[in-house]
Amino acid sequence: MSDAELMRLAEEVAGRAYCPYSKFRVGAAVLSRAGGVYVGCNVENASYGLTICAERGAVMTGRAAEGEGFRIERVVLSLPDLVGEKLEAEGWPCGSCRQVLSEFADPEVGVLSGGGGGGPVFEKTMGELLPHCFRF
Ligand code: THU
Repeated sequence: MSDAELMRLAEEVAGRAYCPYSKFRVGAAVLSRAGGVYVGCNVENASYGLTICAERGAVMTGRAAEGEGFRIERVVLSLPDLVGEKLEAEGWPCGSCRQVLSEFADPEVGVLSGGGGGGPVFEKTMGELLPHCFRF
């Protein structure tokens, strides 16, 4: 699936975010090496710490769908509440999501981030986002 199609999916799923507390929507579309596409949105909870980020939702679904051999090829994020410089500087997976993504994604894997209003899409690699990630 193309980046444009993945972004369209991520935007659609961001629209299904459950974020009554932060009002900050996130959609994620994860493309696997096998060609599977898995989406996630952030789902918040009245007990704030139980919130699950969009990226982690998508990763869990991907592993559940494909089992052994699940590897990530590309990650596409939609953050419709961020635009421009703020998106480029801050519109990236949180630290927990970076670690979880890195379990299934090589350092060369691209992470795309798109904001609201059809502005530019930014790209970084997993290696840039989380160098020296923990493994054992
Ligand atoms: N959030 C994500 O879904 N992904 C991230 O990588 C960072 C933060 C969500 C969690 C919460 O619902 C909202 O954004 C504000 O933190």
